[in-house]
Amino acid sequence: MGKKEKVMVRICVGTACFVQGGADLLLYNDFLDPVVLANCDIEGVSCLNMCKQVATDSPQNAKPPFVKINDKVYGDVSQERFCKLLAEAVNA
Ligand code: FES
Repeated sequence: MGKKEKVMVRICVGTACFVQGGADLLLYNDFLDPVVLANCDIEGVSCLNMCKQVATDSPQNAKPPFVKINDKVYGDVSQERFCKLLAEAVNA
């Protein structure tokens, strides 16, 4: 493997996200593939400010919990979707 930058992952742990599934995502050590884990830099962050926009402009994924992967924010992220998104990001 070359010197690839780690994928930057920020899990929103603001209240809206935390109570709607963000807490499950924080258990990432238990459910992510070790190879994926090794290639990601994962941290919890307070409100990504996405929850406040949901009411007005609501693309289908715009509901908590939100996760930022590199420069993109994803909504409605389940553990399963999180695995998939990170695997894609790591292999991109
Ligand atoms: S609490 Fe997660 S975006 Fe606001």
